[in-house]
Amino acid sequence: MSMVTLNEFIMERQADFPFASGDLSRLLADISIAAKIINHKVNKAGLQDILGAESTTNIQGETQMKLDVFSDQALLNAVKWGGQVCGAGSEENEKYFAFDLEHCRKAKYVILFDPLDGSSNIDVNVSIGTIFSIHRRKSSLGDLANVNDFLQKGSDQVAAGYVIYGSSTMLVYTTGHGVNGFTLEPSIGEFCLSHADMKFPETSTMYSINEGNMASCSKGVQAYVNYCKSVDKKNNLPYTARYIGSLVADFHRNLIKGGIYIYPGTKKNTEGKLRLQYECNPLAFIAEQAGGKASDGKNRILDIQPKDLHQRTPFFIGPVKMVEKVEEFIRELDI
Ligand code: AHG
Ligand code: MN
Ligand code: MN
Repeated sequence: MSMVTLNEFIMERQADFPFASGDLSRLLADISIAAKIINHKVNKAGLQDILGAESTTNIQGETQMKLDVFSDQALLNAVKWGGQVCGAGSEENEKYFAFDLEHCRKAKYVILFDPLDGSSNIDVNVSIGTIFSIHRRKSSLGDLANVNDFLQKGSDQVAAGYVIYGSSTMLVYTTGHGVNGFTLEPSIGEFCLSHADMKFPETSTMYSINEGNMASCSKGVQAYVNYCKSVDKKNNLPYTARYIGSLVADFHRNLIKGGIYIYPGTKKNTEGKLRLQYECNPLAFIAEQAGGKASDGKNRILDIQPKDLHQRTPFFIGPVKMVEKVEEFIRELDI
């Protein structure tokens, strides 16, 4: 069997971009190096002094885990010294970084990332991930990156992806020409093409939501979840519930097996929990490229104009028919 490595694949696909100079390809390669460094640390999590919390909180007011901080640094270093981005925004840092290095000032791209997704699962050996989103810069080549580079709509992304550190480690990405998944082959230390042209199943009988929040969700969301649990042979109901608590892992399972993921607004947090720029936009880009749909309950995620780097949004993502169904409940019951 012939194996295609991630780097070979990226180089082959460069032809999809007329006049491409290879910068985006190099950036994706830099990210994959950071992913391997993080993966190495994740695998040693129980044996090294890497489990547990730091004494710090991040901009979201969440306690930072040691792996959050390590992963953030690994990605920042990889993209800064790789020189293909003029700046980076991260869930773990209040302000974006504008890299004041000659090669970075000349770079064409900016990156936003959630360095470690699913932090609460680190200490218990459950799948976690990394999510990234890449945009072309708005500021002029040669200048320092500015805020406009980081407040672009998801529809302007040029590439997005995630890494899942699970029973195997995978990197899944899109550049707007379909979605492809690569599994890390530990014996050679390379990501190899394992899931070509990934597509959501058309519909499914699985739903993922933290039902602990049910009482403070909107009537529309409550009605949809009750619909999922109702008995109706014709519509293959009731559905099966699956919720890991790591967005990357829940999304990855749903992409392969079919299923809708929901993190709605609640009474306390009307915009939900997930961050538009680091979590929702990149996964929405992947979902659409895989034939699925991502919505805030009413509008397409990729059409939201971000006003703040750390903005949150309700999130509904999965096969088109399933997302449309929950939107229908919201339209009817939530004013
Ligand atoms: P992060 O670890 O990057 O802060 O993200 C955690 C997110 C996401 O991964 C997950 O789906 C969600 O939080 C789980 O939230 P609940 O515990 O509220 O269900
Ligand atoms: Mn996250
Ligand atoms: Mn995170």
